[in-house]
Amino acid sequence: MNIVLTGGTSGLGYRTAQVLGSEIKNKIILIGSNKHKGENSVKALIKETSNKNISFKKCDLSSISEIKSLADKLKKFKIDILINNAGALFFSRKESVDKIEKTFALNHLSYFILTNLLLKYKVIKKGGRIVNVASGAHRGVKLDLNNLEMIRNYNGWISYKKSKLCNILFTKKLSELIKKNNITVNCLHPGFVKTQFGKNNSGLASLAIKFLMNFFAISVEEGAETIVFLATDKSIKNITGKYFYQSKIDQPSIFAQSQRDADLLWEKSISIVKNKGLTLV
Ligand SMILES: NC(=O)c1ccc[n+]([C@@H]2O[C@H](COP(=O)([O-])OP(=O)(O)OC[C@H]3O[C@@H](n4cnc5c(N)ncnc54)[C@H](OP(=O)(O)O)[C@@H]3O)[C@@H](O)[C@H]2O)c1
Repeated sequence: MNIVLTGGTSGLGYRTAQVLGSEIKNKIILIGSNKHKGENSVKALIKETSNKNISFKKCDLSSISEIKSLADKLKKFKIDILINNAGALFFSRKESVDKIEKTFALNHLSYFILTNLLLKYKVIKKGGRIVNVASGAHRGVKLDLNNLEMIRNYNGWISYKKSKLCNILFTKKLSELIKKNNITVNCLHPGFVKTQFGKNNSGLASLAIKFLMNFFAISVEEGAETIVFLATDKSIKNITGKYFYQSKIDQPSIFAQSQRDADLLWEKSISIVKNKGLTLV
């Protein structure tokens, strides 16, 4: 199977690449922003799995033009499984090169743009699967569709929670649109997992995450199980638009079930991207 895995160079993504790469017939392309880290990950994965069909493409997924050139490079690759997993938490407000708040740009728009471009280019095969790594952190927040980029009163944790709510709403809307193409899309919460997550920040909040991870987080092996399950398990080949936890369908928050918010988020995302010069549909 041909697999594209964003954020495959550490944490949950790396573990997913280990498991999927151990099936020698699988070809995996890892995407990350750090070239050195990406190349080292490929070397290590080939050594660990003996699968030489693991490669890396550098892309800053918070940049619209970089996602566009990545999608162009992937045009010849017929994809069976797309795993949107790259994500981060930014305690202080940052903007991407496109002047879009970075949590929203990376955690939501990268899933949205890469998936839509690959669908537009028809490189995802019929019977293919899309897996969106969301989070249980989506609970307890509602989208403010007039302030998606938290221009006022930015709070890094709330912004992260909202971006993960976007992942679920995106999954819901996309599943309706691609049913006719015989492609499924599901999302998941991996649990609280010991990874590099949050370590891009400095200060007390970052130390607090490290501390909590040391005491309360599950292993990356356990955390990646639901990602691998959604990507490959035959029992769910016809299931689409659902949110999973521990390899079972789970009910997301009431706000993540809102058809209105799923529709509006879709329209707003199309228009934000269009304003930056990229037409998706
Ligand atoms: N850990 C948890 O407890 C937990 C819980 C729920 C959900 N999640 C979700 O799981 C996903 C993976 O997180 P993780 O915990 O495995 O974190 P991680 O260890 O920090 O891995 C993040 C991955 O994303 C990539 N990435 C970050 N910024 C990028 C950018 N601008 N462009 C391209 N790639 C980028 C990183 O590669 P580079 O460094 O090369 O950019 C890395 O491969 C995220 O979506 C996160 O929200 C995590």
